[in-house]
Amino acid sequence: MTRDAQQAPAVIDTSKPSVARVYDCFLGGKDNYEVDRQVFQQVDDVAPQMKQLARDHRNWLVRVTRFLAGEAGIDQFIDCGAGLPTAENTHQAAQRMNPEVRVVYVDNDPVVAAHGRALLEENDRTHLVMADLTKPDEVFDDPTVTRYVDLDRPIALIQCSTIHHVSDAEKPREIMQRYIERLPSGSYLALTHFYDPQDGSEASKLARFVEDIFANGPMGSGYFRSHGEIESFFGGLEMVEPGIARLNDWWPDGPLLSARTAEDEVLIGGVARKP
Ligand SMILES: C[S@@+](CC[C@H](N)C(=O)[O-])C[C@H]1O[C@@H](n2cnc3c(N)ncnc32)[C@H](O)[C@@H]1O
Repeated sequence: MTRDAQQAPAVIDTSKPSVARVYDCFLGGKDNYEVDRQVFQQVDDVAPQMKQLARDHRNWLVRVTRFLAGEAGIDQFIDCGAGLPTAENTHQAAQRMNPEVRVVYVDNDPVVAAHGRALLEENDRTHLVMADLTKPDEVFDDPTVTRYVDLDRPIALIQCSTIHHVSDAEKPREIMQRYIERLPSGSYLALTHFYDPQDGSEASKLARFVEDIFANGPMGSGYFRSHGEIESFFGGLEMVEPGIARLNDWWPDGPLLSARTAEDEVLIGGVARKP
């Protein structure tokens, strides 16, 4: 166990839904409470394919990790907003490509600290740090991060479904800009984000509906932003083909297994390289 983890607050507030636990519901996990399931149910009643989107999202992360640890030759990852290890995790996908890959996960949810640790810290090259991902300098200067990640060599920074939990008031663009400034040359950023096409389509209506439940309800965050806003989080880095895309269109493993749904449209992502 790392020093940071030992100091993590052990108190789990079961009176208020948490982002990590609600996401766990969508993935079919067991580390959630009634308050979390109520938020999940409100969305699931109207948009049952959101569960599939959550699974597609984890599959996207595995494909991206395969690219980063393989073709791109990255052997150190900082995965912000680790989440609960319900599905396959970054270190498992990365260490299949290269067993020497080091992964430091970052989260601030006590349930992730309590239940996720055993799976996330599976070997001596994977570590979990309790830190606030809206504070890039605190993440990069954390003693566990500096111990296991060489900040003078290329890193893969993963921001999967994290920045859409950062409100405009918290200045997500500035936060991402600071992350990018601190990344060594040759590093990669992989980022996914809730998307509102803002075109009156079914997908746009779905985005508004889910944002209302997530951000205006007791969970308190989950913002569906425009393509331009999401693009700005990449700070002008060189996009890896095909750029920012629907998750199933990024390095697909083959033709789609089922017809597209409005749910497929409301989460997009991409990978970019810092020259
Ligand atoms: C929707 S989950 C995504 C999990 C995983 N990245 C994935 O894509 O499957 C978002 C995660 O970010 C974490 N998180 C949200 N805000 C955070 C913050 N300010 N600092 C650290 N972690 C945060 C939550 O606890 C949760 O585990």
